[in-house]
Amino acid sequence: DKAGYEHYMLKEISEQPAVIRKIMKEYMVDHKLRVRPEIKEMFNNIKRVYILAAGTSFHAGLIGRVFFEEVAKIPVEVFIASEFAYNEPLIDPHSLFVLISQSGETADLRACLVNVKEKGYKTLSITNVPTSTLAREADATLNIYAGTEIAVASTKAYVGQIAVLAILANSLSKQHSLDLVSELSRAAVSMENIIDRRDYINELVQHTFNSQDAFYIGRGIDYFVSLEGALKLKEITYIHTDGIAAGELKHGPMALIEKDIPVIAIISQDHISNNTRSNLEEAKAREGKPLVISLENTSKGNDDIVLMDVHRLLSPLVTVIPTQLIAYYKAKQLGVDIDKPRNLAKSATVE
Ligand code: F6R
Repeated sequence: DKAGYEHYMLKEISEQPAVIRKIMKEYMVDHKLRVRPEIKEMFNNIKRVYILAAGTSFHAGLIGRVFFEEVAKIPVEVFIASEFAYNEPLIDPHSLFVLISQSGETADLRACLVNVKEKGYKTLSITNVPTSTLAREADATLNIYAGTEIAVASTKAYVGQIAVLAILANSLSKQHSLDLVSELSRAAVSMENIIDRRDYINELVQHTFNSQDAFYIGRGIDYFVSLEGALKLKEITYIHTDGIAAGELKHGPMALIEKDIPVIAIISQDHISNNTRSNLEEAKAREGKPLVISLENTSKGNDDIVLMDVHRLLSPLVTVIPTQLIAYYKAKQLGVDIDKPRNLAKSATVE
């Protein structure tokens, strides 16, 4: 049931603020957002966390690393599941594995789970399907409560994973350093605000994207969202898109910038705003078509998409939304099958 939306993808994009509120309801304990005590205890004596995932869930994992390191002060490594499975790094014995998967059925990740469990490491899965293989086979599991995701391109599961990772990391921090009740509420409002302005993004897309290539650039957490924005655009529009660390543009990819190639910068962090903007200027000098997604407090002059401010660490919940809408409206303009892009399956059950 598309609930009046033309495609599941747009329905699921629109559900994202509700997903955040649902997660808040499910994780609320005494007016605070917390994981269950037994999950917190799993992290006693843990010196390093490994996050494993594929695709969009991997991109959520990269943001999870920032939460664990900045909020919980636990060092983290993030691996693509299919890479970890056969090229294992040197692992500290006091390590715990967090496996992130919307479906809970991704074969690459299951291979990792079997492998690390056999070696005796503790495992925690984060999934959208509590009856899935990864939810059942890990030592413990956290539900993201995003509701069934039907469009092949993942949207609401990604924001759900990020919110649950934030709650997990904050539960492990000594001082519970983030006031997540108010920060996640604020993020949900900011998400709603940009979803309500989706017609504007549709218009922007009609005027900006007439090229077979596109780039997303960003630094730090914005780079991780750039990777996700690029994946979404390429998978549903078939436009070749790369997500690039803004500072790396000059180390190679700049050679590809020519007239009218969109270069979309995500700028949500004040301390790197000027650097990313000067990278964008260089792309503009090569006649690329710059587009800026910023927050109110990082915006300048005439940025194309300005989002309501949210906590610095939670910016991906909001900055990802225009990237999803850009992909959606471009695919719609091209008349391709938005909910079922060619060559892809909703869950990848072979390695
Ligand atoms: C992209 C997408 C895929 C999945 C990946 C992992 O939109 O949906 O990249 O994120 O196949 O799937 P899960 O999260 O089910 O393990």
